[in-house]
Amino acid sequence: MGTLDNRHALITGGGTGIGAAIARALAKEGAAVSLAGRRKAPLDDVAARLPKATAIVADVTKDSDCAAMAATARAANGPIDIVIANAGAAASAPVAKLDVAHWHNMIDVNLTGAFLTVKAALADVTRKSEGPRRIIFIASTAGLKGYP
Ligand SMILES: NC(=O)c1ccc[n+]([C@@H]2O[C@H](COP(=O)([O-])OP(=O)(O)OC[C@H]3O[C@@H](n4cnc5c(N)ncnc54)[C@H](OP(=O)(O)O)[C@@H]3O)[C@@H](O)[C@H]2O)c1
Repeated sequence: MGTLDNRHALITGGGTGIGAAIARALAKEGAAVSLAGRRKAPLDDVAARLPKATAIVADVTKDSDCAAMAATARAANGPIDIVIANAGAAASAPVAKLDVAHWHNMIDVNLTGAFLTVKAALADVTRKSEGPRRIIFIASTAGLKGYP
């Protein structure tokens, strides 16, 4: 028996790094996990080693991808109980050398992506149901303070 038996967690950026570690930890507690990212191979690799996992190719900067991501996750593993907006990027440069495309790219993935991810799963996570339900944002200290 795990503390997350019969729970379903959707984790963006679940194919690598922190997202993959979160997926493994939640799966160990019994959760079914849906893993999303743009590249299929790392998602498949993580999913193949977990008992109940679904790999979903999605770009979190796109509203339609996020809606499809949530629909695919729901179809595979039932309503989403836990959504973890983890996908992110931290390409940085000194302000004077930062072009606007780079700026938009960081806003798109780190801010808009988190918003669209949670928006797509919100009806599931806020439904009336027993057991733990959570919305979790993974951020960086770079969002709290500036670095040289
Ligand atoms: N590592 C640290 O020290 C640290 C510190 C503070 C905060 N964080 C935060 O923790 C989170 C995970 O970071 P990490 O260290 O595990 O780095 P990572 O391995 O580079 O993970 C980022 C993940 O996000 C996915 N991703 C990026 N853009 C995406 C998009 N547009 N749509 C969907 N998925 C996208 C990537 O997959 P694809 O490329 O396949 O899409 C990748 O799996 C990030 O939000 C990061 O800001 C990390």
